[in-house]
Amino acid sequence: MTKIALVTGANKGIGYETAKQLAEQNIKVLLGARNETEGKKAETALRDLSLDVTYVKLDISNSADIENVKNYIENEYGALDILINNAAVFLDSAWFGNNVETVPLQTLRDTFDINYFGTVELTQALLPLIKKSESGRIVNISSVSGSFGVHLDETHWLYQLKPYAYSASKTALNQFTVFLANALKETNIKVNAANPGWVQTSIGSDQAPLTPEEGAKTGVALALLDEHGPTGTFSQSGEILPW
Ligand SMILES: NC(=O)c1ccc[n+]([C@@H]2O[C@H](COP(=O)([O-])OP(=O)(O)OC[C@H]3O[C@@H](n4cnc5c(N)ncnc54)[C@H](OP(=O)(O)O)[C@@H]3O)[C@@H](O)[C@H]2O)c1
Repeated sequence: MTKIALVTGANKGIGYETAKQLAEQNIKVLLGARNETEGKKAETALRDLSLDVTYVKLDISNSADIENVKNYIENEYGALDILINNAAVFLDSAWFGNNVETVPLQTLRDTFDINYFGTVELTQALLPLIKKSESGRIVNISSVSGSFGVHLDETHWLYQLKPYAYSASKTALNQFTVFLANALKETNIKVNAANPGWVQTSIGSDQAPLTPEEGAKTGVALALLDEHGPTGTFSQSGEILPW
């Protein structure tokens, strides 16, 4: 039976490439995007490659969109096999330095609304449909920016980069990964967090060494884990990262 996947923020960057690579595995991919024009553009581009994708309007910070997408998947497919929580924003004023003393609370709230609360709300809404899959997979696209281990390691290249709102939202997402994996450990569902690496996108900038195609690979591999694969992990290219 054809598997069904939903990728959030699939109109560009790592999300678009993730959708492409999953569809290339003959998975039916729902392309979530908050902007209809951009979402449809991505849908057209991937259909031009003969890939089976369908755009769904999904602003993950909008409860009505979440409800509509849940109802759509339930009515059309009855279950969801793969959820890729990819959509996120970077709203801190810079990557460099540590802005924890001055970052406006509104920046923290706006960042958490999408990167954390939107992701949690969407996942909770879709869980009943993922539980109906024979092998549900939830992949949270996180970041080493959210890792305590990295931020405590003075030798790590990311140590000097402490944008607080973005990093804290990814730390919260990592905790969600651990708790959800624990809650679902007696089921067939696996929940893992992926670090894509530093990737050439709006968030990663054009200075980044990895292409979006390369950046999508960790999340795709976690989405395709077989029943022996791990749950409750944080990794990049198969290498476990510190929480
Ligand atoms: N690039 C990197 O170096 C890097 C490193 C570590 C982790 N990541 C993570 O990788 C993921 C993808 O980011 P990216 O690098 O590909 O950046 P990107 O090109 O800016 O893509 C972000 C995507 O998220 C979407 N989005 C933002 N807010 C949304 C919302 N409320 N509802 C639905 N979609 C929303 C964006 O849509 P719009 O086009 O409408 O804004 C866009 O499609 C993110 O979780 C990011 O934190 C990236």
